Amino acid sequence: MRMQDKVTLITGGAFGMGGTTASLLAAEGAIVHILDQLADEGPKRVAEIEAAGGRASFHQMDVTDDAAWAAIVAEVHAAHGRIDALVNNAGISGSAQPDPHNLETWNALMNVNATGVYLGHRNTIPIMAEGGGGTIVNISSISGVVGQNVVHPGYNASKGAVRLLTKSAAIHHAKDGIRANSVHPGLMPPMRTSGATADPATRDKMLKRVPMRRFGEPIEVAKAVLFLASDDSSYTTGSEIHVDGGYLAF
Ligand SMILES: NC(=O)c1ccc[n+]([C@@H]2O[C@H](COP(=O)([O-])OP(=O)(O)OC[C@H]3O[C@@H](n4cnc5c(N)ncnc54)[C@H](O)[C@@H]3O)[C@@H](O)[C@H]2O)c1
Repeated sequence: MRMQDKVTLITGGAFGMGGTTASLLAAEGAIVHILDQLADEGPKRVAEIEAAGGRASFHQMDVTDDAAWAAIVAEVHAAHGRIDALVNNAGISGSAQPDPHNLETWNALMNVNATGVYLGHRNTIPIMAEGGGGTIVNISSISGVVGQNVVHPGYNASKGAVRLLTKSAAIHHAKDGIRANSVHPGLMPPMRTSGATADPATRDKMLKRVPMRRFGEPIEVAKAVLFLASDDSSYTTGSEIHVDGGYLAF
């Protein structure tokens, strides 16, 4: 098993691609801690993982809350004595706001998508370092590499921040035995918070830009996360995997 006994935190792991990833990591032997704000979906995901023979627990939290991060990380550390992997997956979409100049949307996107990831680093990296190392996988997007007219600029900016925050962590913490990489999904099933990008006509138009001419599946993203979270990628850090059917190859 590729994640045997690895103590793993995953944000947004209750639902969507994070849920699929949490299940895959647990199936590969990880002890999965799901950090999510969804009080109903979190326990459901844990029950599914346990029914499949995996290990998981749910911590209800908002990734923008530094004190909540500190408390949960301390709890996990006390329970296991270490943290091996962190997957920063929680995020909100920028495609429900048609006004690119809406400041409230900018602040919300930067807060959840970028600051939420930074808080994950800030709270777990010292513990990983103390334990001799760890791996971090941050979920960015194709939107973190190129601009798009169907999402609020805050989505592109926040996902671009995730991309470079990852490379920065890789450089700062290689000496601590910590690797950090990002995954950049392309056109996937819509997010809970999607607007325009959930509209079938808009999605069809976006699909014309995808060389493989199909949408991605959450499991295809989960497998990239598994590779980067596991020792299979032991010499890979500061890197990025585009799971996008070729979208960024243009
Ligand atoms: N779906 C796509 O097309 C797509 C494409 C590229 C990148 N992504 C990125 O992949 C990640 C997962 O997206 P998804 O499609 O599964 O979305 P989703 O909306 O289905 O799931 C997001 C999860 O994050 C959680 N979350 C959101 N805000 C949170 C907060 N403040 N605190 C705690 N948990 C929070 C939600 O509760 C949910 O469980 C996101 O970072 C997203 O930006 C998605």
